[in-house]
Amino acid sequence: MDRRLGVSTCEPKGWKTPVETPNSQFQDATASQPTWYRQLESIDDWLHMDACDHLVDLGCGRGRVLVWAAQQGQGRVSGVEAVSSLAKDAQANLEGLSIPNQVHCQDAADYRFSDETILFFFNPFGAFTMAAVIDNLASNLEENPRLIRIIYRWDHHHQLFQTLPWIERVENRGRSSLWRINPPRKA
Ligand SMILES: C[S@@+](CC[C@H](N)C(=O)[O-])C[C@H]1O[C@@H](n2cnc3c(N)ncnc32)[C@H](O)[C@@H]1O
Repeated sequence: MDRRLGVSTCEPKGWKTPVETPNSQFQDATASQPTWYRQLESIDDWLHMDACDHLVDLGCGRGRVLVWAAQQGQGRVSGVEAVSSLAKDAQANLEGLSIPNQVHCQDAADYRFSDETILFFFNPFGAFTMAAVIDNLASNLEENPRLIRIIYRWDHHHQLFQTLPWIERVENRGRSSLWRINPPRKA
């Protein structure tokens, strides 16, 4: 599929090698493994983006999910990736397809949310980084309450989501779960 799309998103070191992220605060990265294309197909409806959507992949690797989502729908895509070589590859893959994007090379624990409406995680890091991401999301929701979809593959730390306001689990599919944050509408 990479060849058909004209990108290069496989992980050359293989999925068993944990990623070294010297710049990340908690050092709890998992291995860098892209989501298999057939798994993306199986959650295509979860990933669907309308023109007003903004999807961010926290731990985007070489950008496979961003390319896939942008090619299926509309809206904007962003990636956050701690490893600079992977972030550069993600940007190159997106730019090669003329997909407008922002790839932030940084620790996800420090990422400040703005107007994202779809969050994607594929088992990128451990509970410490996930807790920091969730704290930052909770602060952002106080300032900008909005409907958000969260897609979490291999959702080991999903219990941390329970601390977020207005959140509910919508569906499980295989090892993936879909969550929704649905703030009450203002009168
Ligand atoms: C399992 S891969 C998933 C790649 C991509 N999301 C996908 O599904 O194809 C997880 C990625 O998270 C990145 N990562 C791990 N810890 C991170 C951190 N603290 N901040 C940002 N990225 C991190 C890794 O470098 C790796 O590329």
